[in-house]
Amino acid sequence: MKGKFFIETYGCQMNVHDSEYMATLLEKAGYIETKDVKKADIIIVNTCAVRQKSEEKVYSFLGRLKSLKKKKPDLIIGVGGCVAQKEGEKILKKMPFVDLVFGTHQLYRILEFIEYIKENKKQICFIEFNQIEPPYDLIPFPRDGYGRAYITIIQGCNNFCTYCIVPYVRGRIISRKSEKILQEAKTLVEQGVKEIILLGQNVNAYGQDRPDEISFPELLHSLAKIPGLKRLRFITSHPKDLSLELIKTFGEIDILCEQIHLPVQAGSDRILKKMGRKYTRSDYLKKIEALRKICPNIAITTDIIVGFPGETEDDFKDTLSLLKEVEFDAIFAFKYSDRPPAKAVLFPDKIDEKIKAERLKTVLEIQAPITEAKNKEKEGKVVEVLLDNYSKKDPNQLSGRTRCYRVVNVEAEPKLLGHLVEVKIERALAHSLRGKVVKIID
Ligand code: 5AD
Ligand code: SF4
Repeated sequence: MKGKFFIETYGCQMNVHDSEYMATLLEKAGYIETKDVKKADIIIVNTCAVRQKSEEKVYSFLGRLKSLKKKKPDLIIGVGGCVAQKEGEKILKKMPFVDLVFGTHQLYRILEFIEYIKENKKQICFIEFNQIEPPYDLIPFPRDGYGRAYITIIQGCNNFCTYCIVPYVRGRIISRKSEKILQEAKTLVEQGVKEIILLGQNVNAYGQDRPDEISFPELLHSLAKIPGLKRLRFITSHPKDLSLELIKTFGEIDILCEQIHLPVQAGSDRILKKMGRKYTRSDYLKKIEALRKICPNIAITTDIIVGFPGETEDDFKDTLSLLKEVEFDAIFAFKYSDRPPAKAVLFPDKIDEKIKAERLKTVLEIQAPITEAKNKEKEGKVVEVLLDNYSKKDPNQLSGRTRCYRVVNVEAEPKLLGHLVEVKIERALAHSLRGKVVKIID
């Protein structure tokens, strides 16, 4: 055993999966994961920079590591991901107890960096972008739930929405070869994985940078042919790139789960234009209509930003009316946050923090009864659930996801982890469902 490592992960599923990748690399090299940060010889912090608050959380966690390093001078502390990409060397200066800063395109070199620090006892910073597909030859061991695995199909983003830092910290799009994605999926299914979630900042842009590659809908069709794969999902989709061909796959592919996350951000055309989203409210509504026509039970979730620079009361009302019109299954809502070097930082008419907080509250109040009513519709129904983990609230229970990605808690033996079961829904709560296992499917 070479030593123990601890990984702290902030942000989206891409980051969760990147951490799985690093953990797998470290384990293959003889390190062992610990869940106790005090016992670690190596601490990796995988960071998120999407909002100011996400970044603050990272610094607050790092601050707490200072005393650990004092007690244990050989401790190696590495900061990776989006904040590392954005801040680079500044982190090493601000926090001299940090040994390593590595960017979003450098994760696969983690072992090399650690060896270097062990030998040279020097601070290092690697934040170059690769122009090519990184050598993702290793198949990460899935850790984010039993029976489910993530596969990154595309990294980066070319959209440059005016509020967003992602293109600056994750770079331009790089699609992975479909051959590699299919091989990875087959191997995972052979290992017992039943559900695969395809990841990318904008999965709908898959292949745009590789004219020789198959399209995203074609990739979905190919994955659906893998024997033993029971469920397929993807996240995240940009509405402007959601083609009719892709919408149709929901009616064509049985294993494609009835669920899509389709961030709308705002309901006012004026604000959508300022955000650089390249669709109108009406374009968005037409796509929702098409999705529901092809797949009537589809669960649709979204992201909302309130208080974008220049957002008037009327603009805000357009967001509220959109929420009422679409009736999303759930939403994630955020107060606009300046993220240099994103363009909106320079936009005039910034909205007061107090007004942003009020608008956020109103959005959540409008959505709550809609989410509740959608959950209530499930009461009494029998649904398919992949039992993926112990319940967060009660470790004696198991938790899983329906095909529409709702959380369901049940009384069940741990041996059912990673299995598909039928559950009769007994009660709908604000953010989850409760039920009873009535049949084991697989
Ligand atoms: N301020 C607030 N929310 C943001 N998001 C992205 N950038 C910002 C920002 N500057 C939100 C968007 C996106 C989600 C991942 O985070 O809603 O869809
Ligand atoms: Fe955070 Fe966005 Fe980076 Fe994901 S891509 S880690 S949400 S900043």
